[in-house]
Amino acid sequence: MLALVHDPHAPGLLRLGDAPDPIAEPTQAVIDVAAVSFNFGEIAYRSALTRPGHVSGWDAAGVVARPAADGSGPPAGTRVVTFGWSGAWAERRAVHTSELAVVPDGVDLGTASALPVAGVTALQATRRLGSILGRRVLITGASGGVGRFAVQLAAMAGAHVIASVGSPARAEGLRALGAAEIVLGPTELTAPVHGVLDNVGGSQLAEAFNRLEDDGVALAIGKASGEPTLIDFERARTTSARGRLENFNVSTPFGDDLAYLLRLLQARRLDPQIGWRGPWTSAADAADALLSRRVRGKAVLDLVPNPGFTTGSA
Ligand SMILES: NC(=O)c1ccc[n+]([C@@H]2O[C@H](COP(=O)([O-])OP(=O)(O)OC[C@H]3O[C@@H](n4cnc5c(N)ncnc54)[C@H](OP(=O)(O)O)[C@@H]3O)[C@@H](O)[C@H]2O)c1
Repeated sequence: MLALVHDPHAPGLLRLGDAPDPIAEPTQAVIDVAAVSFNFGEIAYRSALTRPGHVSGWDAAGVVARPAADGSGPPAGTRVVTFGWSGAWAERRAVHTSELAVVPDGVDLGTASALPVAGVTALQATRRLGSILGRRVLITGASGGVGRFAVQLAAMAGAHVIASVGSPARAEGLRALGAAEIVLGPTELTAPVHGVLDNVGGSQLAEAFNRLEDDGVALAIGKASGEPTLIDFERARTTSARGRLENFNVSTPFGDDLAYLLRLLQARRLDPQIGWRGPWTSAADAADALLSRRVRGKAVLDLVPNPGFTTGSA
């Protein structure tokens, strides 16, 4: 089968080439993949130890080609969105049936492929904040994939959402998604916040931590800045609030959360914010656009050219 294989000498370290078909375990269905989405982590953190020819990829949507042998999951021909820690960027992937959800009629597979890691991370992190009804919640890296889902989900949960972005242009569309305020970094906050969903790390996380209300919580989701986070806890204790800082990691399985996000998509209560969409032959362009902060939201790649969508970063 064709796949985007790891090639240390190719642009974006990705080459469309041959890869062996996946071998499914009894609990896994085999999917004919129609579209995949890229996430910052799987592009930015590729290991020097990854062997040439390896097929990476977390998010894929497609059609069940072979149902799981143990009888779990949907039958052949069902449209699904899927998650796994590798193997998405290929014509076929094997995926555990607890890591997929059925895509409702009327929801395009490329749109659904934007959901898994970014959407489920935003959902689980928003839930982890507890009740945010009427409370101030800061989202850093709000222009990105996780950020744009988080803005929508936190607003839906009743929060006063403050979206933090790197420049005014990166904020485009965020007010329409539910952001009540836009700031260019946590230093621009005019009052303390109850919750922080931090995708950037480094000085932004440190500044955000210092601006928590006494019972507030900051969730360290990601480190897109690449900066380590230095927090002076003595300063925080003496000059400002006494909030909590927690590390966040998305939990598997994704199936139930994907099904919930798909219901929101179908009801048009959630917008996947696809800022780049094109054929998987342009994978290196998509990876470059994502890492250079030129994608507003998600980058989606179609395996079969989709004339309804244009290529390019937004
Ligand atoms: N813990 C978990 O379970 C989990 C799950 C998913 C993702 N993550 C992590 O969460 C972070 C966000 O993921 P994502 O998929 O939303 O990424 P993304 O779409 O690339 O968005 C990241 C955002 O971070 C901001 N940013 C600030 N400094 C940056 C820099 N030096 N380089 C790149 N971006 C920078 C950018 O906003 P501006 O351009 O507006 O500044 C960008 O929109 C990543 O670090 C990812 O690894 C963690």
